[in-house]
Amino acid sequence: MSQTTKPWVIGNWKMNLDRRAAEILAREIADDPSCRAKIKVGLAPPFPYLDRVAEILGHGPVALLGQDLHPEARGAYTGSVSGPMLRDMGVTHVLVGHSERRRLHGEDDNMIRRKISAAVEAGLTPVVCVGEDLAQRESQQAMTTITTQLEAALAADGWPGQGETLVAYEPVWAIGTGRVAGREQIIEIHTGIRRLLPGHARILYGGSVSPDTAGPLAREKEIDGLLVGSASLTATTFLAIVKATTPA
Ligand code: 13P
Repeated sequence: MSQTTKPWVIGNWKMNLDRRAAEILAREIADDPSCRAKIKVGLAPPFPYLDRVAEILGHGPVALLGQDLHPEARGAYTGSVSGPMLRDMGVTHVLVGHSERRRLHGEDDNMIRRKISAAVEAGLTPVVCVGEDLAQRESQQAMTTITTQLEAALAADGWPGQGETLVAYEPVWAIGTGRVAGREQIIEIHTGIRRLLPGHARILYGGSVSPDTAGPLAREKEIDGLLVGSASLTATTFLAIVKATTPA
């Protein structure tokens, strides 16, 4: 973690929780003083709960994220949510290119490029997610895969722009598996990503982050924050990660 900028900890709730549980979790996080100092905390709730979570977070320091957005601003796209709609709900950042969108919804690099452009156009900061799968890792194609993903992202209109550039490295084989990528693996990829991006990018790591692994990860100079899935679903584990990530 760099000494000069606040680290990020983002909780991606994915398709979990119900309305009541989302409200309780958002409130516990919003009320906790550890989410204020020396750290940037963000929550990405499921779309139906955005409005309620926005209300709970109010004008406090915890950022509200979308988990995805449609590449068009409006139109006949049943079931989709656009950038301007997210913006309207108080969302400031949006995950784009999460591996679950790539794999389970067939989103290719071109679609992700369009989504990044749409996010920027709507005034949202995209958190561009990249990562290799196990076969790519085992065939020494990890950095090649990520380079291709990033080159597509860099072809998006207006990205990176004037604001903060956020990229999340999430190796697919580390997501939801309890298997955190090794220190050297993460440093190698983060260094490679940094080389490809102009200016000062913030590079987050995601994949089975837990209260036990957060501290050592956060102390790495090359890691600017954490993107947390399952451990973001309870206040105890998420706040423990926030505390472990907060610089002394
Ligand atoms: P887990 O922390 O559950 O592995 O999920 C990581 C992730 O995909 C966050 O976006």
